[in-house]
Amino acid sequence: MSSLDDGLNKDLDKIVASARDAIATATDLAALEQVRVQLLGKKGEVTALLKALGKLPAAERPAAGVEINRAKTALQKEITTRKAQLLKTDLDSRIQSAALDVTLPGRHTDIGALHPITRVLNRIEDFFLGVGYDLVEGPEIEDDYHNFEALNLPAHHPARAMHDTFYVNPEILLRTHTSPVQVRVMEKRQPPLRIICPGRAYRVDPPDPSHAPMFHQVEGLFIDQDISFADLKGTVIEFLRVFFEQDDLQVRFRPSYFPFTEPSAEVDVVCVHCFGDGGGCRVCNHTGWVEVMGSGMVHPRVLEYADIDAEKYTGFAFGMGADRLAMLRYGVDDLRHFLDNDLRFLQQFQ
Ligand code: PHE
Repeated sequence: MSSLDDGLNKDLDKIVASARDAIATATDLAALEQVRVQLLGKKGEVTALLKALGKLPAAERPAAGVEINRAKTALQKEITTRKAQLLKTDLDSRIQSAALDVTLPGRHTDIGALHPITRVLNRIEDFFLGVGYDLVEGPEIEDDYHNFEALNLPAHHPARAMHDTFYVNPEILLRTHTSPVQVRVMEKRQPPLRIICPGRAYRVDPPDPSHAPMFHQVEGLFIDQDISFADLKGTVIEFLRVFFEQDDLQVRFRPSYFPFTEPSAEVDVVCVHCFGDGGGCRVCNHTGWVEVMGSGMVHPRVLEYADIDAEKYTGFAFGMGADRLAMLRYGVDDLRHFLDNDLRFLQQFQ
């Protein structure tokens, strides 16, 4: 070493010292590579020293060469060690960030489902669309004329008292049934007519297991030539048997009164809860039967209101309670459950 040129020696010491520092403090592989190129690359500092050997007196070259190469090898070794360290930290951190904690509870996705009333409405629609009826909708906020007057329920008619009504003002109200949609269709279209009108209806009914102030109806109207009560019975019975998937379902037509049909009948099905037994059954009010719709032959005056020739055409109409049908189909003993939005109840219908 003593024979080595003083300048070169100092340079080498300085380079090695600062290189050690740079290698040790390189925080990632890219930084380390930069240090390597700076020292050992083509234009690197150590490379430059090796190139400068030629300028030394021949006698000093071998010793200087040995010194520089020793330093070069040492630095290369340090770089390799540091590289291995950095690679390991890099891998560790990547493993850590990609780590999967198999003890965590899984992520759960809730899948929605149709509300049971919607499912029942769909079933009703499927049946009637399948036998050639059209689907029509009407407004839930109705005028007095369509809800009452044109259905042969003039002002002060006692039957209006059966409809406990939400009035917006004396002329406008929340429809008390879906029958006004019949009127709206007959105003626009001439027979033959085959329509169903699903939708909500409203009455000031105190809530109980079979009453809610908002409920769902599906209105049906069939008008053509030579339509008789037998057509009404056949249609309704067939529908109910398909709906309940029961070929021998017991259905009862009970004489009744509606101002817009004559004759009129309430339709009852045997209670699916107590199978007609009645005693102690909340669903059928101890009668063994549950009323599911009103029906009848369209009153000639209703046809005349809509400018349909009552001499030429006859027809039947029905209005069924979709909530009642849902109760019976799903064995629910209180229709208020349908409106509570309690997921524990609703999830049973998925
Ligand atoms: N609109 C009647 C009701 O809500 C039901 C009905 C419809 C009756 C059509 C006869 C004909 O009670």
